[in-house]
Amino acid sequence: MSNTLFRTKKVEQSILDTEEPEHALKKSLSALDLTVFGVGVIIGTGIFVLTGKVAKENAGPAVSLAFIAAGIVCALAALCYAEFASTVPVAGSAYTFAYASIGELPAWIIGWDLVLEFALGTAVVAVGWSGYLRSAMDSWGWHLPEYLGGREGATGFGFDILAAALVLVLTAVLVIGVKLSARVTSLVVAIKVTVVLIVIIAGAFFIMADNYDPFLPNAQPQEAGGGLHSPLVQLIFGYAPTNFGVMGIFTAASVVFFAFIGFDVVATAAEETKNPQRDMPRGILGSLLICTTLYVLVSLVVTGMQKYTQLSIDAPLADAFKATGHPWYAGVISFGAVVGLTTVCMILLLGQTRVFFAMSRDGLLPRFFSRVHPRFRTPHRPTILLGVIIAVVAGFTSLGELAELVNIGTLFAFVVVAIGVIVLRRARPDLHRAFRAPWVPLVPAVSALASLWLMLNLPAETWVRFGIWMAIGFVVFFLYGRSHSRLGRHEETTVGQVLKGRKRDDTK
Ligand code: ALA
Repeated sequence: MSNTLFRTKKVEQSILDTEEPEHALKKSLSALDLTVFGVGVIIGTGIFVLTGKVAKENAGPAVSLAFIAAGIVCALAALCYAEFASTVPVAGSAYTFAYASIGELPAWIIGWDLVLEFALGTAVVAVGWSGYLRSAMDSWGWHLPEYLGGREGATGFGFDILAAALVLVLTAVLVIGVKLSARVTSLVVAIKVTVVLIVIIAGAFFIMADNYDPFLPNAQPQEAGGGLHSPLVQLIFGYAPTNFGVMGIFTAASVVFFAFIGFDVVATAAEETKNPQRDMPRGILGSLLICTTLYVLVSLVVTGMQKYTQLSIDAPLADAFKATGHPWYAGVISFGAVVGLTTVCMILLLGQTRVFFAMSRDGLLPRFFSRVHPRFRTPHRPTILLGVIIAVVAGFTSLGELAELVNIGTLFAFVVVAIGVIVLRRARPDLHRAFRAPWVPLVPAVSALASLWLMLNLPAETWVRFGIWMAIGFVVFFLYGRSHSRLGRHEETTVGQVLKGRKRDDTK
């Protein structure tokens, strides 16, 4: 049994599967498309919303150091992702890579985990988008009834109609085709990056040195005495849970990590890339470098413009300009945030459907979902199914702890990918690798440990929720995936033929 749980799908088979016409996606993306795609999904709620919350509650102006820490963890993971993506250029991201290297059960675990990451990530960003739009609408004098507004802190029945509508519209765009969405993405990314540059350049003139004092506030005990809300690492080692101080930087890093999610999504588009061997590493590493630089600069500027204790939690970038008496800039930034969050939402949704598509093509989920649309050549069935589910989740859920759940899922995927790089180098040294991560096994080993460290800095309750989701995944795998796996059936057929052959030989 353990053999079948760890059966691996041959890399050559993964590539062959993508060439079956009924299940093939169109290859149309270049390195530049991928970088735009990456920046399009990476810059979002993380920098626009979480910067203020984290500076205020966990790190003060040292939030910029938290961005550097999270950026380093991601860069290490990116090296591993780039090697895998350029070796196994098929849809599905970490899921596909794990299937080719570690085995079916780990691949299932990671696929299930990525579905959580992308689905909840899409919902989180849609809710953030709706918040910005409502705030802009409020200033024009258009007010939605409370039961159609955001769920954060709301009581009684309500449905965030704007968040749900955004997800449904984007679902329709994705069904029509990735080329169209890539074109829309480029324009939106240009607007978003311009707005971020405005924050950095214009904001630099309003920095007051006093606001950086203290740069790293002293550690303070947590108000509620910690409990399940405390980072797991503090509970394990028996610290009294604290905010700020050096530990606060790591707590902050585990939250602002959300701001980097997305470079891994670039890898999910490998199958739609013209020259994945060359363009994948360029796309992944390029977009990550651009975003890390922008985040560090934005967080330094914003905490320099306004005392960290005064930063707003909902729209810190825009409100820092309001606080320094420049509401015009605030309006422009809010507009950029609304436009920018749209692409983030769309690309997360795209990544989500591609993982689901790959799992279905392998038979781990019903094959019905992996028939591409005859005209648009997109996986329309999982796109529509998941789009509707996410719209409902986005409508009923508040941002709250969802971002942390997304982070733990993503970090777990990074750990598996890093281990996968080491395993695949040993198991298949012969494979052509257009991009090779340096110093293997040291870099992947450090990458796995660094991701694990950030996971440990997330609250204990996030670990519990993650455990429940994964437990459901195990049940689905053992009740459906294992017996329907295409790889398993293929193996059974092959074994059956060998046995029949032997019988014939015996009777001769
Ligand atoms: N990195 C993306 C964001 O910050 C998911 O919204």
